[in-house]
Order: sequence, then C-alpha cells, then structure tokens
Amino acid sequence: MTPDLKVVIAGVEFSNPLMTASGCCGYGEELSEIFPLSKLGGLVTKSITLHPRLGHPTPRTAETSCGMLNAIGLANVGVDKFIAEKIPFLARQKTKIIVNVAGSTIKEYVEVCARLNDCEPIDMVELNISCPNVDEGGMEFGADPKMTEKSIRAVKKVFQRPLIAKLSPNVTSIVEIAQAAEQGGADVLSLINSLVGTAIDIDTWQPRLTNNKGGLTGPAIKPIALAMVDAVYSHCKLPIIGIGGIASAADVVEFMLCGATAVEIGTALFIQPDIPVKIAKDLKTYLKDKKLTSITNLIGKVRKYK
Ligand code: FUM
Repeated sequence: MTPDLKVVIAGVEFSNPLMTASGCCGYGEELSEIFPLSKLGGLVTKSITLHPRLGHPTPRTAETSCGMLNAIGLANVGVDKFIAEKIPFLARQKTKIIVNVAGSTIKEYVEVCARLNDCEPIDMVELNISCPNVDEGGMEFGADPKMTEKSIRAVKKVFQRPLIAKLSPNVTSIVEIAQAAEQGGADVLSLINSLVGTAIDIDTWQPRLTNNKGGLTGPAIKPIALAMVDAVYSHCKLPIIGIGGIASAADVVEFMLCGATAVEIGTALFIQPDIPVKIAKDLKTYLKDKKLTSITNLIGKVRKYK
C-alpha cells in the first residue's frame, strides 16, 4: 500500500506536508515552470503589504557556511496588484494557497487581510510578525507577547479563514510568544523565521548586505528550529508548521517527530527548486520502510530520554 502523505491543518486538507516558505518562490509563477505546483501541499507567497515595496538595495542576499543571509526588506507588489495580477494565476494551481502578510501597523495588517478575505482562492493567511529586516513593524509585533496577541486578535476580526502566526526565534521565550498567539486566536503557528546575523567583506570592510544585517536561514539553523518546535509543541495546542533548513525527507521526519504537522521549505529551493518533489518521493519510501500507512503517525512521536 502506498503510504498516505495527507495532513489536515485547521480543517484544511493538504495533499502532503510540504509547502514553500515565504520569500523563496515569489508568487509561484517561476516555480511552476520547473514542476507542477500540484506536487506541493501548499504554496506560501512572498509577504504582501498594503502598498508596493521595492525593498532594500542590492546586495540583499549573501551565502554563509551552511546557510544564507537575506535582507530583502519585504519587496512586493502590494495587495491591490497582488489581487489583480497574481491571484488569477494562483487560483488555477491545484495546491493550497497561503498568503504571507506583513505590515508596519496593526491597521495595515487588518486592511490587507480584510481585502484578502474577499479572495476565494486563498486558503489561509500567514501573518508575518517576525521579519527581522525592517525598521517598522515586523519583529516589533512578534517580539512582544501583548503586541502578538493584539495584532492577531485584530486580524481575526476581518479574516474568516485559518490564520497562521509566523514566529521569530529572536526572542527570549518563543513559547511565551506562541501562547500569546494562541490567546489572540491564531489557528496555526509557523516557526521559525530567520535568525538575525551579519557577514563582513574583508576587502571593503563593509557588511555584505546593504541593510548591514539580515536573517540567517538554511541548514545552519535547523537544530535551533527543531528545539523551538519541540518546546512550542509541548506547551501549545495549536498545529505547527516547522521551518528552518529543511532540505531532505529526513529533515521533514525530524520536524514532524518534534511536533510539526507540516513544513515549509525555503533556502533549499535556491539550490534545487524541485526539491519538494524528491522529498515527497523519499518520504513515501521512508514510511514504507517503517511500515507506516500515514505520515501523521510521526507527529510528536519523538522518543525522548527521561
Ligand atoms: O527581508 C525580508 O523581506 C524578509 C522577510 C522575512 O524574513 O520575514
């Protein structure tokens, strides 16, 4: 029997637990030229804001050992153009559509989400309260439990489908923030966004990003992400989408054993854009070897030492 990769999150059924991470495939058009997006459980768009943003000047990415730094600065087309020009394409894709939303104020988050609520093809919104690369908003909302709760509560009033809170690792206690998100009415948690970092060019003595610092992603952050997923899973009831350096079926299994119901794949897409197709195939082989009929049998099943 072929093992079942299906997962259900907040009442929404995903054909498999693999999604793209926000910012790693724009609005999906280019990725769809490489493989059919129906192979993904879900596609998470780049962050959408109320007004278009050009983002930071280049260079805004830099390779590091086992990872990547980015400070894009939330470059995006803005919600109006997104609805007019990107939604028609996304609506034709046979995968779940999750729109990542960012803002400088709670009012902005609310306004964007209210407009997205009228867009039928959108299955969920992922609220980006964790971007480390902007002066206003972003991490400001996700680093303080009260602001986290307040912003989620406000968005829940205008957005009627499931709401994901994307959490920052750049906090003293991610569990405290996760509980605040739960309190505010979030339906799902996704973690982790990137870790603040920098890199310096030793010839020019300048930072390698024009924003001077950025967010570290990729395999370098996987152990941190796993520990945070495990901690949040132990203290919150909400389903978790794990993010952080996922590049293989083994990585997905680790995240699911620690409590994730699904995962987002980010930096690995820049190395091998069709990696989700290979991971899905390898997951089936793993489950078959383990004589498991459903991938959901892995969720939270890590066998910890006493
Ligand atoms: O700079 C950026 O656009 C990054 C966004 C994020 O990490 O949420």
